[in-house]
Amino acid sequence: MNDRDKLGFDVPASARVYDYSLGGKDNYGPDRSAASDALDMYEVAHLLPRENRKFMRRAVRHLLDAGVRQFIDLGCGLPGKGNVHDLAHAADPSATVVYVDNDPVAVVHFQSLLHAVENATAIAADARRPEAILTHPELTALIDLDRPVGILMISMLDWIPDEDDPDAVVAAFRDALAPGGHLVICDFLSDNLSEADRAIHKELTDRYNISLTFRSSERFKGFFTGLDLLDPGLVLAPDWRPDRPYDRPSGWLMAGVARKP
Ligand SMILES: C[S@@+](CC[C@H](N)C(=O)[O-])C[C@H]1O[C@@H](n2cnc3c(N)ncnc32)[C@H](O)[C@@H]1O
Repeated sequence: MNDRDKLGFDVPASARVYDYSLGGKDNYGPDRSAASDALDMYEVAHLLPRENRKFMRRAVRHLLDAGVRQFIDLGCGLPGKGNVHDLAHAADPSATVVYVDNDPVAVVHFQSLLHAVENATAIAADARRPEAILTHPELTALIDLDRPVGILMISMLDWIPDEDDPDAVVAAFRDALAPGGHLVICDFLSDNLSEADRAIHKELTDRYNISLTFRSSERFKGFFTGLDLLDPGLVLAPDWRPDRPYDRPSGWLMAGVARKP
């Protein structure tokens, strides 16, 4: 095995597949072929990355307007346009941002982008181990968990299968929020999938040996237990406080923002 294989460049990685779908350049052949297959096989696939990123930006802007100045972006992926720290520092250069991903390639790209940026860092960690993240010295150096934090899970939970207990993962981060903290989730919704969509999903996940879980709106509600969901509640991502006209939603991404009372 050469060094390149050890980093997993011979199989698709979600951060790089997603980067390719957004027109990025930090991806390799296996990532491009998985993304191309999905784009060819699903009519709505080309809508998803942009729906996702645009929702993330609207949600972060809302949190900034609400006075939140600390952010943890779980499953941050590769840097793109309008990253969390870009938005946060445009509003307040003293705002702090910690990016977290379990893909070392995504983390290294963020670290290199942030090497001269104050108040932001990227750490390699697995969201399935919340305690290790919440006590990580690089996180605690920037984030005061006794004050409001915005915790973002943007197209991240779908990579945590039910056997790894995503409800417990979300609960641990939710419990760590101080009053005024916010939880932001955008993820794959199963409610609108047709039988044909489900068959394609199975074919693609089997072909590329990936685990990508769509969940029902009922499951989404559970992620926000004990928090106050902000208007308009849990909705399709483009319908969450749109700031400009948009085409029809894909129907596949559900989004919500909630505040800890
Ligand atoms: C589709 S990308 C989303 C990137 C970014 N959040 C966005 O919406 O632009 C999913 C990211 O979640 C990361 N991820 C998946 N499972 C994870 C886990 N258990 N812990 C941390 N990151 C994870 C992947 O490596 C990938 O970078």
